[in-house]
Amino acid sequence: MLLAFDDDGPGPVVVLLHGFPLNRSMWSAQRANIGSTYRVITPDLRGHGETAAPDGIYTMDAMADDVIDLLNAMQLTEPIVLGGMSMGGYIALSLIARHPERVRALILMDTRAGADSPEAAHGREELARKVETSRSVVPLIDAMLPKLFSPLTGSLHPQRIGTIRLMMEKVRPRAAAGALRGMAARPDRTSDLARIRVPTLVLVGADDKITPPEEARSMAEAIPDAHFHIIPEAGHLAPLENPAATNEAILRFLSRLH
Ligand code: MLT
Repeated sequence: MLLAFDDDGPGPVVVLLHGFPLNRSMWSAQRANIGSTYRVITPDLRGHGETAAPDGIYTMDAMADDVIDLLNAMQLTEPIVLGGMSMGGYIALSLIARHPERVRALILMDTRAGADSPEAAHGREELARKVETSRSVVPLIDAMLPKLFSPLTGSLHPQRIGTIRLMMEKVRPRAAAGALRGMAARPDRTSDLARIRVPTLVLVGADDKITPPEEARSMAEAIPDAHFHIIPEAGHLAPLENPAATNEAILRFLSRLH
């Protein structure tokens, strides 16, 4: 699977994996800011943005292997800093568990290590069917949008919500169903956390209702060398809702590494 991507900036490589159902444009503030010091590579994961949308279930392992294929195609064999938001974090955890030699540091944003509960997996399957039968992602957007943001984003930056809705509208129904089923099938990676041997930054929006701060804190506590940071004025989409605070936390972490 060939992934579309942006590749900006000089210096050590930082690869950022977007959330669902978004695309690489969610990282524009990070590319502009972190990309002035680091080489920031932002792929469109399979089915998202400008990358092709095959049929079938998009497992987190297959999506992680797509990223490895991209790095190989770019001849980037040195270990990278790998960041992922939400679904991108599930993929990052799959990648580091199966290809630890490719990662020199990890940034987990608004994500979790645990699997879906049976109810959550069932809800995703229902949503996948709705999207397929209606051939529209509107049912998905209607289900997700109200849970994504901090109330402060609605009052302080309402235009950011519009931008994200537009991003979500671009995902193809087949891809949304494939990713929903892939997330529902993902394994519990909690027991892998203690085996993460690289410095890790765990970031979470203070008002994240999907992957709440307490859960992110427990994830950080289970990783031997982890820093935990709460992003104020942000919900589940911290890099988009509060890019300044997210960038500052990432840059501080990167500067300790390099
Ligand atoms: C995401 O932001 O990637 C999704 O909310 C992840 C999920 O639904 O578990």
